[in-house]
Amino acid sequence: MNFHLGLIGYPIGHSLSPWIHNQFLEKTNHNGSYSLVEIEQDEFANKIHELMESDIDGFNVTTPYKQEIIPYLDELDDYAAQIGAVNTVANKDGKWIGYNTDGIGYIYSLKATYPSLFRDKDIRIILLGAGGAARGIFSALSSEGFRYIDIANRSLKKAREIKALGNHITTTEILSLKEAEENLGHYELIIQTTNVGMNEKAQLIDLKNRKDSAIISDIVYQPIMTEFLIQAKELGNSVHCGHSMLLYQAQAAFEIWTHTKVRIGDMEEKLQTILE
Ligand code: ATR
Repeated sequence: MNFHLGLIGYPIGHSLSPWIHNQFLEKTNHNGSYSLVEIEQDEFANKIHELMESDIDGFNVTTPYKQEIIPYLDELDDYAAQIGAVNTVANKDGKWIGYNTDGIGYIYSLKATYPSLFRDKDIRIILLGAGGAARGIFSALSSEGFRYIDIANRSLKKAREIKALGNHITTTEILSLKEAEENLGHYELIIQTTNVGMNEKAQLIDLKNRKDSAIISDIVYQPIMTEFLIQAKELGNSVHCGHSMLLYQAQAAFEIWTHTKVRIGDMEEKLQTILE
């Protein structure tokens, strides 16, 4: 089979997805292509219809269209429906199905580097931020069985909306960013999910109150070492960088399209070199 794949979003000129998926195609000996389809907001409806009528088999969806794409699809898988956002679309027997691999990609990436974190589901976790990325990660952590996942955000209303996505075993407290900063010592895993730190020297909260054993994670991958992670390293903590999530969400999307699980292998180091 020859897989016609791609990415829609705006702007996407600097996207790393073509590099990732071309490596995946090569590694799995599949024929195919992965193209960038940059769509401006006022052309969205026309361009989506055009794309769906073309010979494309599946595509990724990025900012700002993860919600806007939904009315154009025939079905959503349960997880995408729960989160209310789609990052992967596949044509299955003539129907366009929407999926979301962001949360599961995050879980896989964390498991690959820190498998021991998954032995104790009673550890305390805090998510900083309550946007689309936080929704996916919260939902995936909750499905994975973690029982204590707190959320800190500038807007408390958005954090409360995410709390409602938790299952019956997950307990969640909502905190302001200031409260999170003061109480950081309670958490074994601290996850920065906002875009603060992307292409800028800025940090959402100070990490000085974190405990020595905490793993500090940031989903921003440009730069690969955000100010947040630089401080974490200086304090001597273990860190988890955002490019890892980028690879594993792509791995899950590739599996949906091709039914092939590709091994990440040395791609994490290669991607790190590209980003540095
Ligand atoms: P995404 O889908 O990429 O997660 P989003 O839905 O726009 O993006 O969410 C962005 C997140 O970053 C939100 O948690 C936002 O906080 P608010 O909900 O209070 O808006 C957070 N954020 C962005 N800029 C911020 C800033 N300068 N300070 C604090 N939080 C910020």
